[in-house]
Amino acid sequence: MKNKVIITGGTGYIGSHTAVEFIQNGFEVVLVDNLSNSDISIVDRIEKITGIKPEFEEIDLTDIKKTSSFFKKHKDAKGVINFAALKAVGESVQKPIEYYRNNLNILLNVLENMEVNSISNFIFSSSATVYGLPDKLPITEESETKRPTSPYGNTKKVGEEIIEDFVKIAKNVKAISLRYFNPIGAHKSGLIGEAPTGIPNNLMPYITQVAAGVRKELKVFGKDYDTKDGTAIRDYIHVMDLAVAHMAAFKRLNDTGKDQKYEIFNIGTGIGYSVLDVISSFEKTSKQKLNYSFDDRREGDVPMLYADSSKASKVLHWGTSLSLDDMTRSSWEWEESLK
Ligand code: NAD
Ligand code: WQD
Repeated sequence: MKNKVIITGGTGYIGSHTAVEFIQNGFEVVLVDNLSNSDISIVDRIEKITGIKPEFEEIDLTDIKKTSSFFKKHKDAKGVINFAALKAVGESVQKPIEYYRNNLNILLNVLENMEVNSISNFIFSSSATVYGLPDKLPITEESETKRPTSPYGNTKKVGEEIIEDFVKIAKNVKAISLRYFNPIGAHKSGLIGEAPTGIPNNLMPYITQVAAGVRKELKVFGKDYDTKDGTAIRDYIHVMDLAVAHMAAFKRLNDTGKDQKYEIFNIGTGIGYSVLDVISSFEKTSKQKLNYSFDDRREGDVPMLYADSSKASKVLHWGTSLSLDDMTRSSWEWEESLK
């Protein structure tokens, strides 16, 4: 019998890529999503890639009753990877209650049902946003966390604290939080990728939409940062390398004893690229000239953020294998497939 894993937010961007990785590693995958930011067609696309159609349930995980009967039905699962959340930073500033209600209630409901049904392994999608403006780079897991500027970011910081409190008393549940840096790119099949609804907030989908003619011009936010070319620096990571990190974390949870209750890992490449680096890689791999101009800095942006992921490398035996060119090329192939 295959090991079963529940993937919440499983039809979303990172969830769908992680589902492919788990199916291809022999797991039985159950996807659960309310489709608020993804499409049901992803289930068939995962089948096209893997040859296996994952089970899918459309459930709002803030609904206590439905979540509880879902977990009862899948109590034989070995673990849960919890991607389900609202994630638009700017929107969360306008709708703080909606973001706290959605993201925190999902987490509370999932954890409670895992304990009740003795499902032991939990992976939480956290974010580098918990570090705020860093004092020192690269950032290790020991670096101080700070109150994120947005309610979205704060759901990640508070989420981690909830997990920390919960695993202390949980008899059955162990957890890992993965603090993602900047996930971009898409599966090489061109069948799944990031599909933002409305105007993208993030750099990569904005770039590909400009190149595809969906948007007129990219605004590069800030050209006077104290960086090599004046634009802000981030640690971009290919979504498939990120998917593999979840597999490594799952193995870690399986392999460690009950006393290893909670661990946190940075998941980045350790390399910082500027906005202009990303544009230039994109222009090279897509053979497109990008229409862009400079604008003011975006409020809340930090000048530089990149990870020290040596803990994940040592403890999870995980590392990245895909380059910035792989990221920009696959993002473009995905965008082109949408035409
Ligand atoms: P996504 O929006 O593509 O996927 C999230 C999924 O959760 C969506 O399919 C959405 O429909 C679902 N969802 C939301 N609320 C739900 C609810 N109440 N019940 C059931 N399903 C619900 O986002 P993503 O980029 O794949 O992000 C996945 C996770 O990783 C999120 O928790 C996000 O905060 C976190 N994260 C993302 C990034 C990033 O840049 N993409 C960076 C750091 C952390
Ligand atoms: C990257 C760089 C922008 C758009 C966000 C969240 C973070 C995490 C990942 C979830 C920055 C610049 C962007 C544009 C630009 N998500 N940029 N023009 O802000 O590092 O992180 O996504 O947890 O919490 O805050 O990512 O892709 O928005 O920006 O110049 O139109 O691109 O200023 O320097 P960010 P991003």
